[in-house]
Amino acid sequence: MTANSDIHYMRHALAVARRGLGRMGSVRPSVGCVLVKDGRVRAAARTGDGGAPHAESAALAAAGEDAQDTTAYVTLEPCAHHGRTPPCAKALVDAGIARCVIGALDPFEKVNGKGVEMLRAGGVAVDLGVLEEECRAANQGFFLAVRENRPFVTLKCAVSADGKIAAAPGERTQITGELAHRYLHHLRSFYDAILVGKTTMEVDQPQLTTRIEGYVHEAQRIVLDRPVQEMLEDLAARGITRLLVEGGAKTHTSFLESGLYDEVILLKSPKVLGEGGVDAADFSNLKGLKSQKTRALGEDLLAIYGCSA
Ligand SMILES: NC(=O)c1ccc[n+]([C@@H]2O[C@H](COP(=O)([O-])OP(=O)(O)OC[C@H]3O[C@@H](n4cnc5c(N)ncnc54)[C@H](OP(=O)(O)O)[C@@H]3O)[C@@H](O)[C@H]2O)c1
Repeated sequence: MTANSDIHYMRHALAVARRGLGRMGSVRPSVGCVLVKDGRVRAAARTGDGGAPHAESAALAAAGEDAQDTTAYVTLEPCAHHGRTPPCAKALVDAGIARCVIGALDPFEKVNGKGVEMLRAGGVAVDLGVLEEECRAANQGFFLAVRENRPFVTLKCAVSADGKIAAAPGERTQITGELAHRYLHHLRSFYDAILVGKTTMEVDQPQLTTRIEGYVHEAQRIVLDRPVQEMLEDLAARGITRLLVEGGAKTHTSFLESGLYDEVILLKSPKVLGEGGVDAADFSNLKGLKSQKTRALGEDLLAIYGCSA
């Protein structure tokens, strides 16, 4: 059975790792690393923007000599190869850590299992699979890019009580309230790219930026203009591992029909827009996704559907 303290520190590492989502700039995972000794966190770090430094080396540098005899909690297996940085597994061994607790194995073939071997060969005790599902979920974009050559895709839609996404064709419509609006900007900050359909770009002219005071994040902005699968492969080749699809209805329908989506986020307003409105796509049959969270955002309701923890 996993110790409560292992779960606690892995949660900490996950929280740190999530802050890097949408900031890797290429097909790389955002990893969290927390170094703990005698019940105290000595250092915590995530993969740097653009993929360097790696979380482990940043945490080791922050801890200095205090890294000796710590337990390292890492959300993803430490790397075992020379890439842009030297192997993190070796750096952990050289720093004299006593134990390494790993959330999930890295599917990347140059690492897969080899990081664990390197740690064990260096005398480090290794425990695998603590909060594995959550750790895998945090890096689903990276896993999908490596295995399926496409990004993690979230469909987001603001919809009125009568199932409309705009008051009339060609009319820009604010459907949800201030809290939902702020939530959207928070959401955008976890994506490498934001996509809309051609009509939405013409009608709404959305900026598709993350506007949170004091927070800098730039996602790529994409207008859908061709078959989706083809576009997704192209996006993965450009290093995009997380894609937020903001609509409109034809764009959502195209993703829903192809099955190329991993998460759906609906912002449901109590407003009624009436018969002249533009119908939302049909979100009633979400292949394999289940309700993960519902929460009030002022007068609106946030509903998240996904397939992971
Ligand atoms: N409430 C919300 O959350 C929300 C969010 C976004 C937009 N909206 C509203 O949605 C409305 C627009 O929705 P819409 O359904 O009319 O248009 P849309 O999804 O924004 O754009 C559809 C157009 O994109 C082009 N396209 C190219 N490749 C495509 C593909 N693979 N799949 C689908 N479309 C592709 C097509 O243009 P061509 O036929 O010219 O090639 C198609 O007509 C606007 O009123 C906007 O305000 C609401």
